[in-house]
Amino acid sequence: KQTDSDFEYEVVAQEGTTQFFDGSITKTYGYNGNLLGPTVRLKEGETVKVKVRNELNEPTTFHWHGLEVPGSEDGGPHDEIKPGESKVVTLKANQPAATLWYHPHAHKKTSEQVFKGLAGMLYVEGADQDSAGLPTSYGLDDIPLIFQDRIFDKNLQLNYDELMNSDGTIGDVSLVNGTVNPKLTVTQPVMRFRILNGANARNYTLRLSNGASFTQIASDGGLLEEPVKTDEITLSASERSEILIDFSEMDSNETVAITDEEGTILLPFDLAFEGEATRKSVESWTSDEPFLTEKEKDLPISKQIELFGMMDMVTINGKKFDPERIDLRQKKGVPEVWEIYNKPDNMGGMIHPFHIHGTQFKIISRDGKEPAPNEQGLKDSVLIEPGERVKLLVTFPEEGTYMYHCHILEHEDNGMMGQVEVY
Ligand code: C2O
Ligand code: CU
Ligand code: CU
Repeated sequence: KQTDSDFEYEVVAQEGTTQFFDGSITKTYGYNGNLLGPTVRLKEGETVKVKVRNELNEPTTFHWHGLEVPGSEDGGPHDEIKPGESKVVTLKANQPAATLWYHPHAHKKTSEQVFKGLAGMLYVEGADQDSAGLPTSYGLDDIPLIFQDRIFDKNLQLNYDELMNSDGTIGDVSLVNGTVNPKLTVTQPVMRFRILNGANARNYTLRLSNGASFTQIASDGGLLEEPVKTDEITLSASERSEILIDFSEMDSNETVAITDEEGTILLPFDLAFEGEATRKSVESWTSDEPFLTEKEKDLPISKQIELFGMMDMVTINGKKFDPERIDLRQKKGVPEVWEIYNKPDNMGGMIHPFHIHGTQFKIISRDGKEPAPNEQGLKDSVLIEPGERVKLLVTFPEEGTYMYHCHILEHEDNGMMGQVEVY
């Protein structure tokens, strides 16, 4: 039997207030605070007990997005914690170092609870990252960036209206780490940013305002096969990307900022190098094993998923989520090929970000073509264009019942979700 003192971390979902704009305070949710949550940092291979407690006035769950834990610890909609209750979960970081996150998964309430502020970063940290010469000083040259969009009413209160936003809430106010009009002082020439698209629905294509290129080093589940030089990254809801920006050659008098696809400034930087540089450059790497073996590429498709619809008419394989129904079964440790098809409707259809719990998968192909270099890494969420067929190599290292769903949170709440039983 668990005792109350038998845990190393405590994560409490609670109500609070936040001042996003000068002079006005609005109600928010947070973990261990008023908004968002602390970064939970696990060491590769480590097992920690986390006490989760619900101090909200409604049920919630604690889901560890991207962490390959048994279904019993995964915090899906079946693991509801009632108001005032708590439970201890065991999180084993049995996977490569990666930037993951945690958020609620309450039945039909995920979108609203995330919108109100429940989300935090979850790192698996490991030796492989240090040996690649990557910046690792949390808060100094290694910084989490959570991009979100929000809607406020005329009294500057956070305004969630599910019915108005059944295709996913798209807000006109941009937040980075919960801050309106953020600004980041850069004190080191080479900075590592761990970026999460924490929005309910929107996609972000991120660029630098001065057109400079940068280096993507990791996808959702860890380091890429090799670093990729690029001048933009696109993240659908729940996807992560780690990038390195080399500011050393940039002129501190020009504006350097992260912008979105429309050129809207999301995060301006203030260049003020200080002290001794932690790093001047970063070594490259190439992995000695191929991303996918020929055998893996040739495995037959064994599971077919069809995403369809919009607003509250969304389905997977023609069905809506039923908590009592198991849709798929897969054996633990045995890789299978899932083909995900985003079926267009007569309006053309829309992008659905597809996510599977309890696994880090590999993208085998998009419409028969090899994935781009920045998708040759472990993934748990994948952007799927209307009409596109994406093949995934999926292995579950643990047993249990896991969700798979569209990560437009309103689509998920509207039933665009299924369950796979891993045995
Ligand atoms: Cu980010 Cu079902 O989760
Ligand atoms: Cu998840
Ligand atoms: Cu969707």
